[in-house]
Amino acid sequence: MAAMASAKLRALACLLAAALGAAGAARHVARRGAAPRARVRMSAPPSPAAALGAELDLDGWATRWRVARLAADAFSPERLDVSPSEAAWEAVSIDMTIPRSPDRPGLGLLLVEAGEQDGLGLVLLDGVAPGSNAASLAPGSILRGDVLVSARVPGGPVRSLEGLPYDATVGVLSSLDPAAGGAVLRLKRQRVRPALTVRLEFPEADVQAAAAAASGSDGVVAGPREVTLYAGANLRRSMLARGVQLNDPLARRFDAGIGTGDCGGEGCCCTCAVEVLRGGEVLSAQGTQERQMLAGFPRWRLACKAVVDKLPEGGATLDVRVTPRGFENFYGKEECDVNGKPLYRGR
Ligand code: FES
Repeated sequence: MAAMASAKLRALACLLAAALGAAGAARHVARRGAAPRARVRMSAPPSPAAALGAELDLDGWATRWRVARLAADAFSPERLDVSPSEAAWEAVSIDMTIPRSPDRPGLGLLLVEAGEQDGLGLVLLDGVAPGSNAASLAPGSILRGDVLVSARVPGGPVRSLEGLPYDATVGVLSSLDPAAGGAVLRLKRQRVRPALTVRLEFPEADVQAAAAAASGSDGVVAGPREVTLYAGANLRRSMLARGVQLNDPLARRFDAGIGTGDCGGEGCCCTCAVEVLRGGEVLSAQGTQERQMLAGFPRWRLACKAVVDKLPEGGATLDVRVTPRGFENFYGKEECDVNGKPLYRGR
């Protein structure tokens, strides 16, 4: 979806701000709007420079959401999904009940159509109308750029609004009976996703080369000095995907007992071991096999078995040494398999 003109969005917002009655009135006003509809963004746009926040205009918000039709799987039927367009942001759910009655049925939501394509729609909230039912909620309950996820009346069925085009959205809101009580809404709002900055140390190239020569292997490991990860990321997969040469030529397989080789993330070869210098508390806990394999190396982790767990708001930093056996001050204790046989070959 090409960037929508600000003037058009503002015009729609003004029209809808006037529609403070029932949602049906809003639909009528929207139909009178002459502005052509934009198309829904189907893939991630380039990263906008502006920070998340109330200062962002509707054009900016329209680029920050992505609408998709998710195929059915074993756990859920096909559904529409609205999610942040970049990994640096995440959506949080917000629940609220807007009080209303037959005498005062209007919700007071300012809805703006940001795009429609192939039955998918992006409808943004632009705050609440002054003096409306929604305005009686706590300040900040509804903000510009929020999107509607679902609506229902108390005790009634949940009606999905996520990814619906504008008319369908207004249709669902209009169908909520004001006599049944308040409108129970769920919204999505974006926030900056807590990030983990992983700072990487590599052995000096000449030390690596000497170690590699002594072990009969070749190659010097290298890669970026810093990578950014988010909760749920597997350390090994994420580092390999970012070009970190993780596999240690000095490591031997744990399962076979002889020979070297990358086990492919099965937790059997130890080629992915890293030494965690600081910040390891953000990683998932070790399992029994990993603890056995790294007995005597309390700061090491198998990257293939380490997942970025919950991150504090504001993010965290993790300092690791890649291929720790290659460092000059490697403390030389021998890695053993579960039967006590040394795995470390020395150099
Ligand atoms: S890749 Fe083999 S133990 Fe991690």
